[in-house]
Amino acid sequence: MTGSRKLNILGIESSCDETSVAILSNNDVKVNLISSQHFHKLYGGVVPELSSRAHLQIVKPIVESAIESANLKIEDIDVITATAGPGLIGALLVGLTFAKGLSYSLDKPFIGVNHIEGHIFSGFLMENKPEFPMLVLVVSGGHTLLLHVENEMKIFLLGTTVDDAAGEAFDKVSKLLGFGYPGGPQIGKSALNGDENSIRFPIAELRDEFSFSFSGVKTAVLRFVQKNFSDGKIPDSDLNNISASFQKALVDALVQKTEVALRKFKVKSLSLVGGVAANTKLRNEFNNLAERYNIPCIIPSLSYCGDNAAMIALRGFHLYKNGIIDSLSAKPFASIPDDHFLKIKSES
Ligand code: KG4
Ligand code: ZN
Repeated sequence: MTGSRKLNILGIESSCDETSVAILSNNDVKVNLISSQHFHKLYGGVVPELSSRAHLQIVKPIVESAIESANLKIEDIDVITATAGPGLIGALLVGLTFAKGLSYSLDKPFIGVNHIEGHIFSGFLMENKPEFPMLVLVVSGGHTLLLHVENEMKIFLLGTTVDDAAGEAFDKVSKLLGFGYPGGPQIGKSALNGDENSIRFPIAELRDEFSFSFSGVKTAVLRFVQKNFSDGKIPDSDLNNISASFQKALVDALVQKTEVALRKFKVKSLSLVGGVAANTKLRNEFNNLAERYNIPCIIPSLSYCGDNAAMIALRGFHLYKNGIIDSLSAKPFASIPDDHFLKIKSES
């Protein structure tokens, strides 16, 4: 770092079906471009090979436009970050390799960022920032994690899902209701016109206080549909009631477990992050929950809930400040090792 000059951090995200490039000036977002691969809808889910190809086509032009939009030249970039995992290996390789190439040619430090850590700290992209210690619920397509975060470098995992992730449950139920992929936004929309108390879908009771399970509620929806609509035709009003009741079951489960953690750990803020944090009902319930415990609730704006490179660059900046940089031999990874986060603390 030269004196107190702010650093220009470049972030590249390509773990799934969004190619995103951001430039931060220290903590501040100068630009955050997101290009979504909408064509996966045609296939009912993300097709890894097509995802890699699409990232490959767009990565160079999107980096160029980010640099131009930030009124910078490529030489002005100080630190280069990219998502290293978890995600689709072929997709990750595109952003990661591009970032490493830039790092090598510009002779600037490279940092491979954990995508989930990007989500965890995405609340810090907002004007009202969370305060440590904070309780964070990550709800995305592939992950459901409840975490106690003491500071930028100390993250404790309280609990996770024993089967499907919250977003995955939205996507699977959406598919069986005929809404398609991605499911969350469509179920949320349909739920607006339904009665959430019309059908009682059960929430799995688990012995572990912070573990989640969503495959049961998904199966309950499937059984309900098979039993009541054996011809496969579901009238719109029933679709809306199913969506609303399913959404309520899922949101209630997320809120209940988070409340148990709030009772157990004294925290200064609550944060809800990840793609599913775009869900209106979940956002409202989290705001109510935090209000009851008299702490601020920080939920990123929609462009920072789904996959974005601003959160990757921000996390890269945290690591850089803490003296962590990676070698150019850093490899992409598909999933997070079990021992990646610190273990649950018995006392707060
Ligand atoms: O974080 P994200 O963009 O990608 C991953 O890292 O997985 O999360 C994607 C997930 C998908 O499962 C999608 O259905 C869900 O977020 N999602 C939503 C909403 N918008 C996106 N789920 C519920 N309500 C929404 N409005
Ligand atoms: Zn994500």
